[in-house]
Amino acid sequence: MVSFYMSTRVAVVTGSNKGIGLAIVRALCKQFEGDVYLTARNVGRGEAAVKALNSEGLKPMFHQLDIDDLNSIKTAAEFFKQKYAGVDVLINNAAIAFKVADTTPFGTQAEVTVKTNFFSTRNMWTVFSEIIKPGGRVVNVSSMVSISALNKCNLDLQQRFRNENITEEELVELMQRFVDEAKKGEHKERGWPDTAYGVSKIGVTVLSMIHARRLTKERPNDGILLNACCPGWVRTDMAGPKAPKSPDEGAVTPVYLALLPPGAKEPHGQFVSEKTVQKW
Ligand SMILES: NC(=O)c1ccc[n+]([C@@H]2O[C@H](COP(=O)([O-])OP(=O)(O)OC[C@H]3O[C@@H](n4cnc5c(N)ncnc54)[C@H](OP(=O)(O)O)[C@@H]3O)[C@@H](O)[C@H]2O)c1
Repeated sequence: MVSFYMSTRVAVVTGSNKGIGLAIVRALCKQFEGDVYLTARNVGRGEAAVKALNSEGLKPMFHQLDIDDLNSIKTAAEFFKQKYAGVDVLINNAAIAFKVADTTPFGTQAEVTVKTNFFSTRNMWTVFSEIIKPGGRVVNVSSMVSISALNKCNLDLQQRFRNENITEEELVELMQRFVDEAKKGEHKERGWPDTAYGVSKIGVTVLSMIHARRLTKERPNDGILLNACCPGWVRTDMAGPKAPKSPDEGAVTPVYLALLPPGAKEPHGQFVSEKTVQKW
């Protein structure tokens, strides 16, 4: 039996129990015609965030989703497939960053940061690309730091990250190489910048470009638009209280990309900041 929900549109936001993700859910509840899922790795934190939005008169739905846990990703994807026959809007927002003052060895910071921000975001797409509906919108929240980190890489790395023919396998190999060299304390002499978060976000931006090119090739008639973006410098637990933007202001560009109108052809495969395509 085809359920009522099969024709309901649905938007999913990862890491949305706080910060920019929560603000994205708030904005989508007001602007998106369909169900909006606040997701969180921790059910208690997720449900508390849903309650907070309920008290603003908004009605997001909730599903557990830990992007570091492949089973959790698969369970969520299966849920959306069964209930909605897929997903219309996917915003990969979840990420981590070590604080500057954190004394965890750099190699460990590199491994942990690249794992969540790059490898787990990649796992999300490996699973959710199977259920993204025609006309879908995919937004990967990266950072302007990906551009500054790219500019601090040696020329060979810069060329590889800017190469339009870079494959996903090559990108994975480069991210793993960074982690391995960071663990050996050799990353700087091998041409990498001294920022694990920055390198992880280079990975997110380049991965977005690769996945967009693949969509164009493999699903040319489906009109799916996939982009990476920067929300700006936003007051959250990650960025601290001195940042100029509120979370709601940080949500503006991700939400703009999530709500690109039906039939839009661009942006696609771009890195977007302040609703404007940036040079990579
Ligand atoms: N804030 C800025 O100035 C800024 C600038 C550029 C880009 N960004 C990017 O914007 C996005 C949101 O950042 P934010 O500032 O809002 O950070 P935040 O306040 O630290 O929020 C991060 C969110 O991601 C979740 N998360 C972390 N690991 C997860 C996992 N394995 N599975 C599911 N959720 C997970 C966190 O959940 P828990 O509560 O369970 O930890 C939290 O909900 C990130 O991609 C960040 O890199 C932020």
